[in-house]
Amino acid sequence: MELDGQIALVTGGSRGIGLAVARALADGGAKVAVVGRDAERAAAAAASLSGGGHVGLACNVASPEEVNYTVSRVEESLGGVTILVNNAGITRDNVLVRLKDEDWDEVIDVNLKGAFNMTRAVARGMMKRRDGVVLNITSVVGLSGNAGQSNYAASKAGLIGLTKSVASELASRGIRCNAIAPGYIETDMTAALNEAQTELLKERIPLGRLGSPEDIAGAVRFLAGPAARYITGHVLTVDGGMVM
Ligand code: NAI
Repeated sequence: MELDGQIALVTGGSRGIGLAVARALADGGAKVAVVGRDAERAAAAAASLSGGGHVGLACNVASPEEVNYTVSRVEESLGGVTILVNNAGITRDNVLVRLKDEDWDEVIDVNLKGAFNMTRAVARGMMKRRDGVVLNITSVVGLSGNAGQSNYAASKAGLIGLTKSVASELASRGIRCNAIAPGYIETDMTAALNEAQTELLKERIPLGRLGSPEDIAGAVRFLAGPAARYITGHVLTVDGGMVM
């Protein structure tokens, strides 16, 4: 299979989009480290993947110390990370004037600094091996902005800047870096939408439905593999045509 021999680390991999990504990479032949906030849930997710030999670890991606320690544990148990998927993300939505400092800081720390922490931690090994793929799960709101999500949209726009900078800086070392920008995907994150809101959303989506975690996982598996070997610094929207 196309990902045989690859070692993938997926943050926020115990549920939602991250779990679907972990499954797709395992189905492609990779050994996967599922990283989440809760050790038991991460271990259960790792045990559910095809192929065996995967690991689950607890780590808060916002903490550089925890990230460095987690990457060293993954490298000891599975080997050097060749595919990093920065998927962990949170929302703390509110209109601008009601956003608290901690709502801003927490979202930037997890969504943007978390991806920086992880990328920095795996980059040295990837540079040495002259091989690696970094994939950042951003959002279409990082491209378009969104009322009531200025903290989240800023974190996701920042992730696009990080993606392009890493792609430019590390291309000569054989490392590719791309972003995937999902539209509305049915997960715990969007479970709060009521039926009327969902219907309204569907009207804005040319393909006429919300996405599934598997829709994102398919794009990740493609960008992680050899079929995407000439693609770097790209932002791939996977949104049913919502933002063109
Ligand atoms: P989710 O809420 O179901 O899953 C998020 C995962 O991230 C959870 O496993 C959670 O434990 C983990 N996580 C949160 N904070 C963490 C931290 N500090 N350290 C480690 N792990 C942490 O959300 P979903 O929908 O699966 O989202 C995954 C990614 O996709 C996020 O980055 C989100 O912003 C992005 N996204 C989701 C969309 C959607 O419609 N569901 C749309 C666009 C982007």
